[in-house]
Amino acid sequence: MVDGDNIEAVCRAFSAHSRTRRCPPARQSKAGVINCDLGMSKPFDIELERLTSQASYSEIVRGVAAGQRGTFFLETFGCQMNDHDSEKVAGLLLSRGYQQVETPEAASLILYNTCSIREKAAQKVFSRLGEYREKQSEGKVIGVLGCVAQQEGEEIFKRAPWVSLVCGSASYRKLPDMLTQLEAGNQRVTGLDTDTDATFETEVTRRDNPWRAYLTIIEGCDKACSYCVVPFTRGPERSRGSDSILKEVRQLAELGYSEVQLLGQTVNSYADPTPRKMRFSELLLAVADVQGIRRVRFTTSHPSDFTPDIVEAIEGQPKICDHVHLPVQSGSTRVLRAMQRTYSREEYLEKIAMMRDANRPIAITTDIIVGFPGETEFEFEETLSLLEEVQYDNLFSFKYSPRPNTPSLSMSDSMLEEEKGRRLAVLQDRQREIQSAKNARLVGKRFEVLVSGKSRRENQWSGYTTSHRMINFASQERELLGTYVQVRVTGASPNSLLGDHAV
Ligand code: 5AD
Ligand code: SF4
Repeated sequence: MVDGDNIEAVCRAFSAHSRTRRCPPARQSKAGVINCDLGMSKPFDIELERLTSQASYSEIVRGVAAGQRGTFFLETFGCQMNDHDSEKVAGLLLSRGYQQVETPEAASLILYNTCSIREKAAQKVFSRLGEYREKQSEGKVIGVLGCVAQQEGEEIFKRAPWVSLVCGSASYRKLPDMLTQLEAGNQRVTGLDTDTDATFETEVTRRDNPWRAYLTIIEGCDKACSYCVVPFTRGPERSRGSDSILKEVRQLAELGYSEVQLLGQTVNSYADPTPRKMRFSELLLAVADVQGIRRVRFTTSHPSDFTPDIVEAIEGQPKICDHVHLPVQSGSTRVLRAMQRTYSREEYLEKIAMMRDANRPIAITTDIIVGFPGETEFEFEETLSLLEEVQYDNLFSFKYSPRPNTPSLSMSDSMLEEEKGRRLAVLQDRQREIQSAKNARLVGKRFEVLVSGKSRRENQWSGYTTSHRMINFASQERELLGTYVQVRVTGASPNSLLGDHAV
């Protein structure tokens, strides 16, 4: 369950590939090995080749040796889509001969991949940029990528004249050209198109998680939720061809990845542009069929495009994970209409019923906004009653935050921050009770876990179940990272489980 004041916390809690667990920027050794410390026990080594999707290790090293272009530091704010965009940007830079470093001090190019979903996230970017004002005089090049870049555009040069590169999330395919201009000594480079119909595919992606690979299958968003900046910052919906997706999945499997997570703001609105015209559910099944793939995840699903064939795919193919993130935003049909969410409370509950009727349990998580303009106490209570009815496995909750260029900006946002805070706290308390009770019922059960963390404490490991529950467990085994093990649950808290390795 996640506090609405911190978008990073959302991503941290929801994603295995989170900021807290993300590998720090890679340190490349002569042996062609990237040292990656998951922030737990001792570092472990990952071959560089395993972190790239398409280029070979030798191609990258050739680039590094030949180019000597300099070093880059890349910091990411925001969602999983941003995390994955950063992986692609890092791959692009590596292939051009840049080397990734751990601190801005050690870098010649400092890049911030930014988030503007709520005001606080955007403010944070400007305060961070302020910290690097002097760096430019030391000859460093500073660049802003992502949603704040798209939203603020050239305004960034006015507010932070020490910035040289501004590239919005819909223009990443222009990055190679922009890098060429920067390398030629250009002081102000921008990429701010949103009318692109192309997707951001790179030849090289440096992947930050050695077992779970992220893959964007649909970019942008064609929905028009009245509170949301995404259609503006990420542009219109563009789906990637199923042939290119499946080719990449096969390459990932050959590189040793066993879990793939398909990404999109509305991932299930996927519309295959190739003559095969695969439905989203067919794509899920085709990805699961790739030899070597053991788990397929997908996020985020939009309720209006959540069709029965997706549930049937989950039912029929155990490799498709039994977890669906289905943001509801509000339990009140009137508020949903004002949010332009395209479904009513009842229609949403029909989707939930479809999942509850499935032949295997499906974990369901959601996003909720409290204090949307005009939300009455009664309408807020409708959201609380929806929590009771659905019994979510996890919840990401936010106080409404007015955003530029959104239709809801013109609605009167007169609710006091204290009242929004109170509603958020009530919602989170209620959800904590639900999660405590649900997790307590799992004690004694066994789950398959992909081990992704090793604790500093001896014999303690952590990983995720297919339903995306975090589990900390004890095992006497010497090496478990990246393996699938059976774990018996011995204890539970609202946000995680405790267990023992069951052999
Ligand atoms: N204010 C508050 N929360 C928002 N979200 C998106 N836009 C806003 C906003 N203006 C939340 C939604 C979305 C999640 C990623 O962020 O709940 O699902
Ligand atoms: Fe934003 Fe709505 Fe699109 Fe989600 S579906 S990204 S909330 S506009």
